[in-house]
Formats: sequence, C-alpha cells, structure tokens
Amino acid sequence: MKGEVLKYDFDKIVDRLGTDSVKWDGTEGLFQKKGLLPLWVADMDFPSPPEVTRALVKRARHPAYGYTLTSSRYYAAVRHWLFRRFRWEVAEEDILTTPGIVTALALCVEAFTAIGDEVIIQPPVYPPFFSVVNQARRRLLLNPLCEAEGTYRMDLDDLKKKISPKTKLLLLCSPHNPVGRVWSRQELEDLGEICEKHGIIVVSDEIHADLVFSGHTHIPTARSHPGLAGRTVTCTSPSKTFNIPGLYGSNIIISDAALKKAYQAVLERFHLSSLNIFALEAAVAAYSFGEPWLESLLEYLYKNLHYLKKRLDKIPGIEFSVLPQGTTLAWVSFKPWMEKGLDVKEIVTGRAGIALNDGIDFGEPGNGYMRLNFACPRPLLRHALDRLEKAARFVWPE
Ligand SMILES: Cc1ncc(COP(=O)(O)O)c(C=O)c1O
Repeated sequence: MKGEVLKYDFDKIVDRLGTDSVKWDGTEGLFQKKGLLPLWVADMDFPSPPEVTRALVKRARHPAYGYTLTSSRYYAAVRHWLFRRFRWEVAEEDILTTPGIVTALALCVEAFTAIGDEVIIQPPVYPPFFSVVNQARRRLLLNPLCEAEGTYRMDLDDLKKKISPKTKLLLLCSPHNPVGRVWSRQELEDLGEICEKHGIIVVSDEIHADLVFSGHTHIPTARSHPGLAGRTVTCTSPSKTFNIPGLYGSNIIISDAALKKAYQAVLERFHLSSLNIFALEAAVAAYSFGEPWLESLLEYLYKNLHYLKKRLDKIPGIEFSVLPQGTTLAWVSFKPWMEKGLDVKEIVTGRAGIALNDGIDFGEPGNGYMRLNFACPRPLLRHALDRLEKAARFVWPE
C-alpha cells in the first residue's frame, strides 16, 4: 500500500488558478474578497487518476468530436463498477445517462410529481434539494435529521407524523451531504417500510457512494429493502469519486418500468439523454482502471480527516464532534462563536481568509455551522487551518 501512496502524490499542490475553476477562479466574485483559500464547493484539488487523463488525451487527439453513441463499452464499465463495489447487478437497460445529478433530481421532481405535491427532504442537506422542489412549485416536506450522541439520525417518527396523501417523493441523500452519514441497512429498511406503506417514490442521490471510509459500507437504497427496489431511482456518477464533475455525466438507474418510462419521457422532452464524448471516455477509464487510485485516495482523505479533527479540537469555540463516515465534507459547528455574538462569516472569510459554505444554505438546522471540504493536499489544509486558528485566537483569546 505504501507503494500506492507514493504512486499517487496527493500532497502535491496543483495550481488550479486560471483554469476557469468555480472553486479557484470563482471564489473572489462569490465571496467578494481576494486571496481566499477555497475549501467550499465539493470538488477535489487532486489530479484525476492518470488513466483518466490518458484516455481523455487519447480521445482528444482524434480530431473529430461528433455526436456520441453511448455504447455497450460504457454500460459494461458502469455495470462492472456497481457490481465490484456494491455487489449490485444492474441491467444495461435500467441505466439512463443524464448530464448531472442535480439535473436528474430536477427531472425526477418533474416526472414523478405534480404541482402542489409534497417532496420530503432531510435538512441539513445539499442546497439544490430545496431549489429543485421550490422551482418546480412543489411543496417541501421538511424532515430534519436529529443530532445526538455524536451522530446524525433520521427522525422517522417525525416523518410518519408529517406524511399526507399529497406526499409523493423523497429526495434521499446517501451518503449524506453535509453531515457525512453512511446510512445503515437498518435505517434504510425502516425508511423503506414507511415509503412502501405510503406509496412514496425514493430518489436516492448516491453521488458520494464511492467516498466511504473504512468501517462503513454504502448500501444502495434500491438493494436495502425489498419494498424499495421497485420504487427507487438511484443517481450515481464517477464525478465526485474521480474528480471529473466538470465533465458532466451521471447514471440514473431505474428498474421499475413505469418509473423508467416517466423519467425517460422528461429526459427526452428536454433532450438531455446524450453524454458528451469526454464524459464517456473518462467514465469508462475511471470505472475500468481507477480502483487502485480510489483506494489510495480514501486513505489520504481519511488521514486528512483526522488531521482536521486534531487541529479543530484545539481551536477555541469550534466544535467538530460528528465525524463524517463518507464524503469529503466536514460539518463544523461555530455555535459557540455565534452564541458569543461573534460574526462567524466575517471571521472565517474576512479575518482568516478561507472560503467555506455557510451552513444556513443547507436549511435552518445548519445555522451556526460551516461546511469544509477537506479533499485537498494536506499542506493546503494545514495552511487554511493555520489561518483559521490565528483568526480564532484573535477573536477568542484564552
Ligand atoms: C449530494 C450531491 N448531489 C449532487 C451533486 C452535484 O451533482 P452534479 O454535478 O452531477 O449535478 C453534489 C455536489 O456536490 C452533491 O453533493
């Protein structure tokens, strides 16, 4: 394994400025400040696996970039990955390609609900879960997660009380962004029972499924409970796993014929079913040859997470008590600062000079939290934490 770590030098800082990166070139405009270290949007500061770059360069060298056929080579690679990583056998005809997962979430809301229907989400949660529902003029049914004993859980009693005949769809985040939970089989089974009983369709966003730390196992929602297999739409992608989100390609897996037909109709209505050439090549290469790279990455991320924990535990007024079981995201509480009347955003952005996601964007339970993406070379993480610690010691001298 040592050899693997050396083979992939995750410590190396890759200068992304000037590459039209949202994270690096977009931060100044968004946060209205120069020189911030961006630890917000969920892409990684590591190069993609060399196999992916090689495949892209090879394809780019062929100078005809015409319309692309999603061939059996592509489906075979996706199926191979899902079986290898999750022991999940998926039929080729159940895989519907879509540019991005947020696109797929919006299409699912359109396909499976009508104006005025209720869609369940579990805040704090990835902000587009709110917007795809609101923008489609459906109603949000908020079923907040509860935090206790160092973890977050689903509050299924609350869910049972809130479900009405208008409740049609659940947007599930598995693993969960931002709290990093990898849902257990029991939790998914309990949820499955409720959804089956009330005829609720589940859209399971599993974009972070490959980014799960040792000791935890991601269980595809569709495989977790017999009642869920036929009512679940699973959204997967190599984008987070292999750091290729800018290529836009995702796989929406639907086994139920009626659900598939409804989704396909919306997909085709908006002409969104084709993959671009480079998304296709990258996915095939990543799913076929990227596993050793991923294993090394997970080790590196795990060490980053524990480094982050060690450093945050020493910073006054910051609490990082719920460690993520998966994802590259840390959900950090600044509540003690808030309770002291300190302006958390101003200190983090203005004084420390780091860009994090404001927890309130993930819903009301996120008030007082910030989301920090630790998928970056450790020297960069160290630099950001040095800045944060210095700012914290200034506003909160011990
Ligand atoms: C849970 C979740 N879903 C979807 C996305 C974005 O997916 P895409 O870029 O494929 O639209 C993200 C990105 O951070 C995410 O965390």
